[in-house]
Amino acid sequence: MITDSILSTVNVPEGLLHVLNTFQCEVDKTLNASTGNLPLVVEDDYDHERCKDKSNWFVSEEYLNTITDNIHNYDYAESRFATKISYYKHFGEPNRVEDYDAYKIPHYRRIITELSDSLYPTSSIFYTNSICYDGPSAYLSWHTNLNNVGDRVYITYAAESNKSFFRYRDPMTGEIITCPDKKGWQINKFPINEEYPLWHCVHSDTRRISLGFRVVNNL
Ligand SMILES: [Fe+2]
Repeated sequence: MITDSILSTVNVPEGLLHVLNTFQCEVDKTLNASTGNLPLVVEDDYDHERCKDKSNWFVSEEYLNTITDNIHNYDYAESRFATKISYYKHFGEPNRVEDYDAYKIPHYRRIITELSDSLYPTSSIFYTNSICYDGPSAYLSWHTNLNNVGDRVYITYAAESNKSFFRYRDPMTGEIITCPDKKGWQINKFPINEEYPLWHCVHSDTRRISLGFRVVNNL
């Protein structure tokens, strides 16, 4: 059952902020250099130029209205101009870190530990994804994530204020709500469930990083 606001925003605790700033430096280093011993791996497999032109369409209410009848086709976004961030288990080996073993990677482990200690001490925390939107015109089109239900915590970073946003459709009222990002890190929590599917999307005209976690209150 959904009560109050769908999206709740939480202040970033000091200890977590320190870990996140270090992570952000590694993302910047990786994205600003094309070769060398990069700390992270970024992957993109989309036709950026074609999709970039359509960034506003893929986060529009008009586009959403064309797809909501086929809800289970949109667990994942149909289109994006964004990069997945990951680490190799051992640098140089084509052996990408899967969601379940993110805990073995020092940065993710520190982030999960800080989240757990300071904000969700009675919950299990599962890493879901890391995405960088390197704007302008970066986006993730409307989708539901219904393949992976539960409370979702997104830790997001924006390089500039009011140049990127998270947009969702309120499952109770149908209202489209746009939440502009402020410069720096913030934490947002929202529920993903079958009863009240939460359609959502992202657009960014700046560099935006998002780290997603599923939080299960079971401890
Ligand atoms: Fe999502």
